[in-house]
Amino acid sequence: MRNSYSEGVDELGLGTKGIVLNRDIKSWSINRKFMISCISSPSFLRESVKGSIKVINEIFECWKIMEREGMQVDFSEWTDAFAASVVTMAATGEEIPSVSNLFNSLNIKEKKPQTQGSWKDGAKFLEAIFTYNESMAFMMLFPTFIRRNFPGIKALNKKYLDNRDWINDKLEKMIVERRKEIERTPLNQPLDPTILTLLITTNTERDLEKISVSNFDRSLNDEEISSIVREVFTGGLDTTANSLGFIGFYIAQHRDVYLRMREEVLNVYGTIDNPDLTIESYGKLKYIEAVINESIRIFPTISLMSRAATEDVEFDGFKIKADTAVLSDFKALSNNPKYFKDPEEFNPDRFFNDKESIGKFTYIPFGNGVRMCPGRGWAMVQMKTFLIRLVCAFDVELVNEAADPKYFYATANRPVDIKLNIRTRQNHS
Ligand code: HEM
Repeated sequence: MRNSYSEGVDELGLGTKGIVLNRDIKSWSINRKFMISCISSPSFLRESVKGSIKVINEIFECWKIMEREGMQVDFSEWTDAFAASVVTMAATGEEIPSVSNLFNSLNIKEKKPQTQGSWKDGAKFLEAIFTYNESMAFMMLFPTFIRRNFPGIKALNKKYLDNRDWINDKLEKMIVERRKEIERTPLNQPLDPTILTLLITTNTERDLEKISVSNFDRSLNDEEISSIVREVFTGGLDTTANSLGFIGFYIAQHRDVYLRMREEVLNVYGTIDNPDLTIESYGKLKYIEAVINESIRIFPTISLMSRAATEDVEFDGFKIKADTAVLSDFKALSNNPKYFKDPEEFNPDRFFNDKESIGKFTYIPFGNGVRMCPGRGWAMVQMKTFLIRLVCAFDVELVNEAADPKYFYATANRPVDIKLNIRTRQNHS
């Protein structure tokens, strides 16, 4: 199990629904399999690369203006905007103006027009998702009696439950609308491979990918679909954005690594001028993958993760009672000199040249075992797309030389103030 029993988690609607905190194994397994089938389907990943490129182009247009104005880039703010747009588009097909909003918030005369037809409630929805993530920890931490009776805490409890209802209501309406759109679309016309559409159509006559989900042959009901889509947001938004933020810090700090990434792109695609990115080529980017792995080794965004014993068990001399949660500290593990030589040193080659020497349970930024992160493949695709484009388009350097990135902890490690000087790549570099 993910965690010990908590009434608060049930109140949030997560104890027997969705994936991350679901303790009903049958329902967890169905939801998890459906999520994995959708986000690893080739049409979804191809569309996600296209969507990511569109957002990256929009970001880089802004950066070029900022460069002309002699402005610095606060990298993690842009990776937040990147993930917000990409995940929302991939999950629902809705566009949100996170990039233009960020640009327009800067002290700069030129303003970007809002994307036409963008989702009116999009920004509010994403805010609600962050509040929902906060509420998970709150619900687990405070016993019901305290949540319902203590002044201050009671108000917070109400805010979190109202927030839960607001999100559920939005998702419910979205599913009803999408079902109608799908019904209106003739069978011979393709549907957009968004997560929402794929979840609705799997195991129906509209199942274009013929995604097979083990021996499970019924389609999902609205409540199941809603719980999975919500977890694409709660699990997949800031994890990817934060990881990219940390990666940005390390590659800006290590010019040699940056240039090797660019060289790899040249070797794989034959050009660094707008290379044609296909999902099939991503497996060849071994060095860029090593850079990602090394950055999230030093600074995993999720550094603590729990498991609860389902029965009394003895482990390494410790007696663990059934329904007791045990936390693993991923960051301590992957920075332990017992397992990694000079762990404080940023050295992607440890994942490139000598991958075999990495112990199975010493490097687990995506967890391990049956509850391992189901979104890791898709997250890797998003991060690789961003990094390939970045090294082709710009040269970057840290504004303030520092040994470690600044960050704060709020349910995850979040990089802040990763200020970069950016320069459009010159043709000869
Ligand atoms: C760089 C990005 C990401 C990182 C670092 C990350 C990290 C993690 C970690 C450490 C866990 C716990 C695994 C365990 O207990 O063994 C996890 C679980 C999970 N992640 Fe991710 N994740 C990322 C991206 C995503 C994305 C894009 C999605 C959604 C599409 C996602 C959805 C989930 C879900 C649903 C779980 C719960 C799995 C379960 O309990 O069965 N994650 N993630």
